[in-house]
Formats: sequence, structure tokens, C-alpha cells
Amino acid sequence: MSISSAPGKIILFGEHAVVYGRPALAIPVMQVQAKVEVTGSSRPGIRIAAPGVELDAELNTLPSDHPLAAVIHNLLFSLGISPFPALEIKITSTIPVASGLGSGAAVSVALIRALASFLGRPLTDEQVNAFAYEIEKLHHGTPSGIDNTVITYARPVYFIKDHMMETLPVGAPFTLVIGDTGLRAPTKESVGDVRRLWESDKHRWEQVFDAVGRIAESARRIIEAGRPQELGAYMDQNHALLQEMTVSSPELDHLVEAARKAGALGAKMSGGGRGGNMIALATPTTAEGIAASLRAAGAKNTIITTVG
Ligand code: PMV
Repeated sequence: MSISSAPGKIILFGEHAVVYGRPALAIPVMQVQAKVEVTGSSRPGIRIAAPGVELDAELNTLPSDHPLAAVIHNLLFSLGISPFPALEIKITSTIPVASGLGSGAAVSVALIRALASFLGRPLTDEQVNAFAYEIEKLHHGTPSGIDNTVITYARPVYFIKDHMMETLPVGAPFTLVIGDTGLRAPTKESVGDVRRLWESDKHRWEQVFDAVGRIAESARRIIEAGRPQELGAYMDQNHALLQEMTVSSPELDHLVEAARKAGALGAKMSGGGRGGNMIALATPTTAEGIAASLRAAGAKNTIITTVG
């Protein structure tokens, strides 16, 4: 048997603008994980069971653009494995789907690693990341690649699409509270809506993306310098720019406000938006109180995580 797990993630700064070449920062969230178990089977074919999404199917009954089928096909073809072996694949995950925590990318990364290792062909992180990026394109259409990158490397990253990925040294640890609106919203739609805005007035939206990019650059320096308390104001500014892009929602804005009222140093939505999760900057002493306030304000779940 081969087992592999991959963490969730959140975007600290720069979502959406990252699709247009601006830098973004993301961190893994180890409290939630996708897990894949691959075992040999006495029955021919490849059977995939993902009880969390009510899937129990033979590989060849899934459409070829189904993300799980695509992971398996891409990988086995690339490794030159033919005919396909008889396998049982079990996928479980504690990462909520379509909520900005990278569930699709985490399943891809865990599945790629578990399959490759079961077949005796372990891959480098760079190879895993490249395979996972191909699958992200099926989920999103025009992904920046930040999700698969931060999840593959499971380290804080500073990322520019098609250009660079650096792991981010964290000068002093800081605490975040993640709050889930409980609303599921496909990233593909919010990314598509931002694209329509951009197409209607490229000059205006390039300036907005530039402003987001400057925030991500400043945030990187602040994190490296170990002055995380200064991040709060940048989170607030980044949230305002995401509101301008129309990707926040009343529920996200409500949780962001609740976090600020409960003493967060700053707060913003995170990821594709319209639903999913928001993040708030806390301290070790304020984190529990902020999480309780978020739940009182309607958050379906909260996670406290320390970066660095
Ligand atoms: O998967 P999510 O919800 O964290 O969103 C990804 C971040 C976007 O910038 C909105 C899209 C992308 O491909 O980078």
C-alpha cells in the first residue's frame, strides 16, 4: 500500500491579481489534509472511492476531463505504464471543497505522490507540481498555479505566475484565524467575472492589480523582517481591493467586520471569494476570542494556525 497526504492552503495576499502576473503570498494549512491510499487489487481496472464526494467508480466510467481521472491518465501515460495496473484508490479529505482552501489541488498532489510511489516511480516536488498544475487547469480554466505550488512544497511561498516561486522565510511567527462562511463558490466563476471586468476596462483594472501587487511585495518584506503586526493594515487594504473586484460577498464582509471588532489587527477574504474562507490576523492571546466571535457571527468553522 502507498499513502500520501497533502495540506490545505490559504492565500495571504494577492489572489486574483496573481492571475495577471502580480505577486501573491500563500501558506499551507496543516490542520486540514487530503489523504490518498493506493493498493493493488485482485479485480482488473482502477477503482476510485471518494466517499466525501459520494464517488465510487471505475476509472473508465469517468469522463476524461474529470480531475481524478485526468490525474491518473496523465500520470500513467507520462510514466509509460501500460496496460494500467489493477488498483484500488481511496480518497478522503478534511478540506472543505470550493472554499478557498485548495481542496482540489491537495487531492491532486496526494494522488500523484501516492500513485507514483506505489508504482515505484517517486517524483521530485517539481514534477509533482507540474502534474498538479495541469489538473488545476481543468478545475479553474486559467489558474495562476499558486494553489498547487504552496500545497506541493507545504511551505509559505512568494509566487509570481510563470515566473518564480520562492519559499518565504518567516522572521517571527504570527497567528491567523481562518473563518468559513460555509458557502461554496467555484473559483472558476469569480475568476471569469474578474476577467470580464478586466476586458471591459483594462487600464483601470491593471491599476487595481498593481495596487494588490504592491501590497504583496510589502507584506513579504514585513514577514521576512519579523514585524507581522504590521500586516493587518495591508490585509484590510487588500480586502477593499477584492471588494472592488466584486469577489467578496455580504457573508465574507460580515465575518471580516466581526473579526476586526473582536480585536483582529486586520482581516480579508481569502482565495476565489464569493463564499469560502476569510482570514484574520490575531495574536496568541486574542486568537481564541476572535474565533469565538467569528462563530457567533455565523462562521461554520474556524481554524487557528501559526505561520512560521
Ligand atoms: O482556489 P482558491 O479559491 O484559493 O483561489 C485561487 C486564487 C485565485 O487567485 C482566485 C485564482 C488563481 O488561479 O490564482
